Amino acid sequence: MVINWYPGHMVKARREIQNSLKLVDIVIILLDARAPFSCRNRDLERMVGQKPLIMVLNKMDLADAGCTERYIEELAREGLQAVAVDAITGKGMSQVLKAIGQTYKPLADKMLAKGRRVRPARVMVAGVPNVGKSTFLNCLVGKKVAKTGAKPGVTRGKQWVRVREDIELMDTPGLMWPKIESEEQGLKLALLEVIGENAYHEDQVALYLVKILREKRPEVLKEKFRLADIEGTDEEILQAVGRKRGYLIKGGEVDFYKTCHMLLHDFRKGSLGRISLD
Ligand code: G4P
Repeated sequence: MVINWYPGHMVKARREIQNSLKLVDIVIILLDARAPFSCRNRDLERMVGQKPLIMVLNKMDLADAGCTERYIEELAREGLQAVAVDAITGKGMSQVLKAIGQTYKPLADKMLAKGRRVRPARVMVAGVPNVGKSTFLNCLVGKKVAKTGAKPGVTRGKQWVRVREDIELMDTPGLMWPKIESEEQGLKLALLEVIGENAYHEDQVALYLVKILREKRPEVLKEKFRLADIEGTDEEILQAVGRKRGYLIKGGEVDFYKTCHMLLHDFRKGSLGRISLD
């Protein structure tokens, strides 16, 4: 296994989510739109249990639009509603609000039927590291931040942030670690920075990225790095990329580690185009 993944505090994170779940009506699980299935955490989904769940595919701006559409259809076939967003620009956020409204309606109707006042829907956001939980919360809350203050029965330290008249968000997102079940999934999560850089070697992840580019987007290698052909091994391609970029060390050899680092950086910033991995 090329990924050395030993997440700490897993038990604590799980307990925190379990406590928070008791307080909410709806759970939003945030996934990276480039590899939503690799980011899924079945343990978290099991913990959510029967509570209404909305899957949000974030960073849609970095993902292949056709793939995102397919992933959403695939989730729908599993009976899961999913929405794609870009939490930086706010694209797709209106659909998230609509999904929350529609999901809460049956619960609100029940309250009305019992003669009770309908309170705002309480929503919690959860997901693996770096999928954009904080960015998403900030985007959803926007400038209309209005902390409603800690309420009786609310876990110490947790605050509800009023998004609109009818929605309150838990201000602390639930953090869960991914369960890595295959080497390829680990490599994808390393590419997406879901797992920390101490858990992998950049050269192995960069070689995996070259493999993906050759399979899915050979034009990126040909046009962006002006490679005449993409024959040979992944390592030879990486060497050629470094040479084209002028990443050389003494003696004219390619600076392999700088090349790996640069390629990963370009992918993560979207400079190689919109590429999906799942
Ligand atoms: P987390 O709470 O789940 O750990 O994630 P966080 O919001 O901190 O976001 C992780 C990184 O992903 C940040 O980049 C953030 O800007 C970026 N991000 C979040 N949502 C989106 C999105 O929809 N599209 C794109 N392109 N990026 C997104 P960073 O490089 O770590 O920090 P920063 O310097 O960009 O703020």
